[in-house]
Amino acid sequence: MKRGYFFTFEGIDGSGKSTQLKRVADSLQAKGLRCLVTREPGGTPVSERIREILLSPDNKDKIYPNTECLLYMASRAQHVCEVIAPAFHRGEIVLCDRFEQATFAYQGYGRGLDIGLLRNINQFATGGLIPDITFIFDVSVELSQERLSSSGKGRDRLESESTQFFTKVRQGYLSAAEANPQKIVLLDGSRNIEELTEQVLNVLYEYIGM
Ligand code: TMP
Repeated sequence: MKRGYFFTFEGIDGSGKSTQLKRVADSLQAKGLRCLVTREPGGTPVSERIREILLSPDNKDKIYPNTECLLYMASRAQHVCEVIAPAFHRGEIVLCDRFEQATFAYQGYGRGLDIGLLRNINQFATGGLIPDITFIFDVSVELSQERLSSSGKGRDRLESESTQFFTKVRQGYLSAAEANPQKIVLLDGSRNIEELTEQVLNVLYEYIGM
């Protein structure tokens, strides 16, 4: 079967990963490369409905950690089957805003759910599809909070979590990067936007042999 590429962008809220993903996609498209941009939770009509449940501030303090985990996984299962795997097998470059590392960092480190269990449920949700490379944009919790406050947008259910929560989530991302240097590229998300995009593109082009 044909094979494309699957790259994921991660970081705590306010890390700048979505801005970088967009800039990278624009560069790839300008080179005439077919790429699919998508996000988690979301990326399909059903998964976007699940996203609304997960992020609505109306559900603050109403969703149990196990429920939260399963909703993220349900969104992912649908997303992989409907969008990511088909694009990957058409030979496209898939760029996804968050994927499995978000679950390990937020539900594992942040909520304290068992990481081994999360890996098993994730395997069930993804059918074993794993990213080629994950880019983690690391920023301090202070910088992330500053960016969220100055964005002018109201905070969603997750964004309004405590700084202690985000400290644990950040630790989760840092530990994942340390444990898996072949698959995870850790970037300093406080660097300037242009430099960061160039760093990502360098890694990505080398990986796809361009
Ligand atoms: P976003 O705002 O970057 O689109 O991400 C949505 C929120 O969902 C963000 O706060 C991180 C959180 N999240 C999890 O807690 N677990 C997951 O598996 C995913 C994909 C996201």
